[in-house]
Amino acid sequence: MIQVAVMGYGTVGSGVVEVIEKNKEEINKKCGAGEAVNIKYILDLRDFPGDAYESKIVHDVEQILNDPEVKIICETMGGLKPAYDFTKRALMLGKSVCTSNKELVAAHGPELIKIAHENQCNYLFEASVGGGIPIIRPLNYSLTAEKIDAITGILNGTTNYILSRMEKEGVDFAEVLKDAQEKGYAERNPEADVEGYDACRKIAILSSLMCGKNVKYQDIYTEGITKITSTDFVYAHAMGKTIKLLAMSREEEGQFYAMVAPFLVSKSHPLYMVNDVFNAVCVHGNMLGDSMYYGRGAGKLPTASAVVSDVVDCARHIGKVIMCFWDAQDVELTGIERTSH
Ligand code: HSE
Repeated sequence: MIQVAVMGYGTVGSGVVEVIEKNKEEINKKCGAGEAVNIKYILDLRDFPGDAYESKIVHDVEQILNDPEVKIICETMGGLKPAYDFTKRALMLGKSVCTSNKELVAAHGPELIKIAHENQCNYLFEASVGGGIPIIRPLNYSLTAEKIDAITGILNGTTNYILSRMEKEGVDFAEVLKDAQEKGYAERNPEADVEGYDACRKIAILSSLMCGKNVKYQDIYTEGITKITSTDFVYAHAMGKTIKLLAMSREEEGQFYAMVAPFLVSKSHPLYMVNDVFNAVCVHGNMLGDSMYYGRGAGKLPTASAVVSDVVDCARHIGKVIMCFWDAQDVELTGIERTSH
């Protein structure tokens, strides 16, 4: 039995518990070697009276860190504090960490990967970009024969949902945002979604995997959707286009570019039809050409599914390192205009 702890019993954390419970047979079969995963602890500051997993709730991280039986931790707390400290300590103890925390991955990814590998465990972050879409694994394991030179994506479900509904229904921005929050798509502070900061962290992670070095999110020009109005959609339609918040990065002749901003997208572009909470990522490689990854970019179960896919990967590699080519050396971006976020 592989003992797992979940840190943070919010939207994604409770989704992780649900996915592991509902897909127990599938998951255990895929862990291989007759292994099975079991949730031993759930860390949260709150009590959950009457919850089916009430008996697993603990309030002190030391209980998890001091238990040698716990081999894998799902970090679904979000934010830098205390997630950074908890993750670092867990990895130093040889416990693998699977995370949905893009903020932490974008800020400390290479450092945490290095600590994990020094301690024969893994720091995996499939859920940090694109919700349930597999995009980290394709970049890290599947497209390894490629020189990837361009990534373009719709990487934030909340803003894509808002823009889609504004376009279709002409509804008010604030009204749709409230709906996205109720559906569990939006960040605790939705400014991170609507100002583009969330997409910025995600494209920083993808860009880092693209070039194998560290793209600092602080260097990426970032503009959100708060200035988009229904009038903009009228003009976009008149041109046969729509408006999407795109995150992109390019490598041209050794120079790297990255940005997040609203763009006019033509009907002929594959991202034109990506609506609602869906995300999509177009990746260009020098041998393969274009490939595209599409699916639910936010929400409890899709995101939790990606976290649990990492749990399975860790369960298959207990005591072994899964390579990840993301060096701590910073990449210098060309033509940057820093924005404060
Ligand atoms: N708030 C994020 C989004 C959640 O809307 O895409 C998934 O990272």
